[in-house]
Amino acid sequence: MSSVLINGNEIGKVIRNNLQTRIEDLKKQGVVPGLAVVLVGDNAASKTYVTNKQKTCESLGMHSRLLSFTSSLSQEELMTTIHDLNTDESIHGILVQLPLPKHFDESLILSAISPDKDVDGFHPNNVGKMLLGQETFLPCTPFGVMKLLEHSGIEIAGKHAVVVGRSNIVGKPMGQLLLQKDATVTYAHSKTPDLGSITRQADILVVAVGIAKLIQAEHIKDGAIVIDVGMNRDENNKLCGDVDFASVSQKASFITPVPGGVGPMTITMLMENTIQSAENKLRQDK
Ligand code: GUN
Repeated sequence: MSSVLINGNEIGKVIRNNLQTRIEDLKKQGVVPGLAVVLVGDNAASKTYVTNKQKTCESLGMHSRLLSFTSSLSQEELMTTIHDLNTDESIHGILVQLPLPKHFDESLILSAISPDKDVDGFHPNNVGKMLLGQETFLPCTPFGVMKLLEHSGIEIAGKHAVVVGRSNIVGKPMGQLLLQKDATVTYAHSKTPDLGSITRQADILVVAVGIAKLIQAEHIKDGAIVIDVGMNRDENNKLCGDVDFASVSQKASFITPVPGGVGPMTITMLMENTIQSAENKLRQDK
């Protein structure tokens, strides 16, 4: 059997087309949705992600501002930058690209972002709301995965979803969003013994561990739906996911490629959250 490809480029494009209408409506009311991206240090992958976020903003006619600092920036200076952005009327979304250099207290920084502009959904208030199923900004990657499943017509209720990875950015919120859609959720991670015995139970398998080609055909059951959040380089320096696409795609019913699966969705949902924030602000101001 060969699987159906879940095309994040195509699904992302459909969603961004719909966002365009909301941007035009905002502009008619004098508001240009604005995203500030804060980059500290010279992590090559982070630079690429940040550039892609900016390009997508510009292609949609949104305002984007990059604040780029060397790793000599202090915690206090970064705090001041965030406080300034919190009160900047032209900015509706603030994103601090992670990981930060080691001398920063990441959780303090993320807590300093105004929850109203926290388009990553990483502020503790927003994480709490997400957990309670209340309306809030959802973390972009898990939000994007939910959109991929929805647009592919995949029913979630009653399915056994296994999430491999437990990061605050992807794994933990991913499991919660699947749970809210009535999946039975199992979390697995680097300390899980006999990972395959867990992943083979998955109807929906989401892998976000950052280990190239960790998941092989023998780790999934026939017809599983496989979502690969990984972004790694293989032995030939070629981009690859956490899933061995060549073998797993022969056994899965649906699969996301890397690149062109989850990645474009993360950026698209960041745009959606920024537009949502601008709409919220306009409503409050009326
Ligand atoms: N680093 C990797 N993924 C993300 C993300 O979704 N948001 C931020 N801020 N940093 C990241």
